[in-house]
Amino acid sequence: MSISAQQAQVLLNAAQAAAENAYAPYSDFPVGAALLTGSGAILSGVNVENASFGLTLCAERTALVKAISEGHREFQAMAVWASRRAHGSVTPCGACRQVMAEFLSPETPVVMTDESNGKLRILTMKDLLPEAFGSVLQR
Ligand code: THU
Repeated sequence: MSISAQQAQVLLNAAQAAAENAYAPYSDFPVGAALLTGSGAILSGVNVENASFGLTLCAERTALVKAISEGHREFQAMAVWASRRAHGSVTPCGACRQVMAEFLSPETPVVMTDESNGKLRILTMKDLLPEAFGSVLQR
């Protein structure tokens, strides 16, 4: 499934707006994520850090857990926005990729910012996590 450049920009803007609510006092690295559902709704999430650092939730997983718990199951795209540069683009961490692969199809676009030029960078779920582990109990 693909989305238009305009939809991708709208979704990235939603991720950016969500990052305002990030709880990132330890890293000072606010991140926002946004999902475009099959029905066209946008749900967002932010990173939620914890004094026990390992309990930190990334924005991508927050957005997915919110969406799933609200009953959404189909997703057209996801966007991730970070307040500042990490190393090149901010891409989802490995743990988030596996969680995303549970719900996003291999062709689902994931929108990020290309830090080299500030423009959109779009990779598919399959680009981000080739050969993803899938349960033998396929849905
Ligand atoms: N983080 C995310 O929320 N998503 C990413 O894709 C990269 C990392 C968060 C985790 C932590 O709160 C902060 O960014 C610094 O790693």
